[in-house]
Amino acid sequence: MKHFINLKDIPAKDLRKIITDAKKRKNFRQKLNNLDIDKGAPLKGKLLIQMFEKSSLRTRLSFYLAIRQLGGSALTLRPDELHLSKGGETIEDTAKILSNFGDAFMLRTNSDTKLEEFKKHLSIPIINGLSPSSHATQVLSDVFTVEEIKKKAISKLNISWIGDSNNVLNSLIAASIKFSFKLNIGCPRKYQPNKNILNYIKKNKNKITLYNDAKKAVIGADVIFSDKVISMNDKVNKTKKLYHFKNFKINKKLLNYAKKDCIFLHCLPRGNEVDENVFSSNHSKVWQQALNRVHVQKSILLYCFGKLR
Ligand code: CP
Ligand code: NVA
Repeated sequence: MKHFINLKDIPAKDLRKIITDAKKRKNFRQKLNNLDIDKGAPLKGKLLIQMFEKSSLRTRLSFYLAIRQLGGSALTLRPDELHLSKGGETIEDTAKILSNFGDAFMLRTNSDTKLEEFKKHLSIPIINGLSPSSHATQVLSDVFTVEEIKKKAISKLNISWIGDSNNVLNSLIAASIKFSFKLNIGCPRKYQPNKNILNYIKKNKNKITLYNDAKKAVIGADVIFSDKVISMNDKVNKTKKLYHFKNFKINKKLLNYAKKDCIFLHCLPRGNEVDENVFSSNHSKVWQQALNRVHVQKSILLYCFGKLR
């Protein structure tokens, strides 16, 4: 059994194994319907329990389809309907029940500590479905999407991030170290990654460069990533923050600095950090990106269950 919380804690060879498995599985499914089950139904009889303390559309749907396609089933709990959220029941007791009734637990949470607490008390795998510091399942799937579209190992590509220093960027930084790809980050100085992240970057041999200028960060880019400037539960003065990001919009002008065949990726939902004429252009591969989460999450589930081929 394995947990899947942060990319930085998972061996690079395991992350690569997950991507390789996802590629195979996606190929096999070309003519199948959403709810058709993969050959061999490797997770037959298994129950994935999922809980979202923050909104979700894509993660919720993709985990549901992922476990179903592997032959198992999913149950979504509402945090406001549990005793846990009302203060009456401990994480320890909740975890014991989840472990006895289910086979894996996927949690989207407001608290990284809560993930760690659950991990301590669960005897089934826990998967981070987004936390304040990480969006690991998203970014692993994004590595898959980049390689699928570019038909090249990500280590041979120039990746740029234009946007806030948030959970998605943290995971992209970890991915850059694990998969050894060049990552240029463009964000206002005030919103650079925090000290811990900068130390993590320094400690690991890396190809990461920080710019406070969006144009410099996208020169020669094969892929431009972005995300909302204001994340869920971001307790900031929104008007001020958006103002600081006014020169960090993804528009056609900015795209001119990247490679001609540069693609645009965004985990969604979007805000106004990307112009409509980029979002709906041929450069944008956001729908393929979203759908790929099903395929990669299936292989993440298999990894957690110790069933990766
Ligand atoms: N990208 C992503 O995680 O989307 P949801 O918030 O809709 O799950
Ligand atoms: N950074 C965003 C990602 C949403 C999928 C957030 O945390 O709200």
